[in-house]
Amino acid sequence: MTSKLIAPSMLAADFGNLQRDTEMVNNSDADWFHIDVMDGHFVPNISYGMPVIAAIKKHATKPLDVHLMIEKPERYIEEFAKVGADIITVHYESTVHLHRTIRQIKDAGCKAGIVLNITTPLTVLEDILPECFMILLMSINPGFGGQKFEDITYKRVKNLRKMIDEQGLDTRIEIDGGVTDKNIKKLVEAGADTFVAGSHVFKSDNPTATIKALKDLANS
Ligand code: DX5
Ligand code: ZN
Repeated sequence: MTSKLIAPSMLAADFGNLQRDTEMVNNSDADWFHIDVMDGHFVPNISYGMPVIAAIKKHATKPLDVHLMIEKPERYIEEFAKVGADIITVHYESTVHLHRTIRQIKDAGCKAGIVLNITTPLTVLEDILPECFMILLMSINPGFGGQKFEDITYKRVKNLRKMIDEQGLDTRIEIDGGVTDKNIKKLVEAGADTFVAGSHVFKSDNPTATIKALKDLANS
């Protein structure tokens, strides 16, 4: 069975204590750092870019999973690779030449993934699936942390897992938005294996224990 991974979203970290929060993730049961890049165009919010990612990379001992919520991400792939991205995911909705962009990510030495907004049909993935290390299904409308998980995601995970199995692939399915201890197990049962968690981790009294609890639930 594929091991289940937890990727705390640094969007919910305390930017005034970025080194402390990076080290908390290093010393926890988390697997990756989830890094949300927003440009104020593709999504109605602006987060952070290369200098902040480089600052996290300086202290991080685990891979950086960089989620690009920007228009025309192909303009910046090499720069994100240079500042330390290990995995780069781009939205299907953000780039015209998706196949070229996925190849570009791999040529830059990173693992490549595609993100779908909540109601983008899964069928758009059919031909590009073999090129992808991971598919990220949004379980909220991208742009902000702390939103409520949308239940339609369970059905989408099941259908995507079926599509991946039918093609004989081992593509990861990552879920992003509103993931908590209340829905993670059901998401695993539906076929997901990688989980982003922002507010649930960083707004808790003990983020390290919250990460462990999520990881234990996902692998139970
Ligand atoms: C939102 C981002 C998410 C966000 C998740 O567009 O892609 O990664 O940080 O935050 P929570 O877990 O609080 O929903
Ligand atoms: Zn994200």
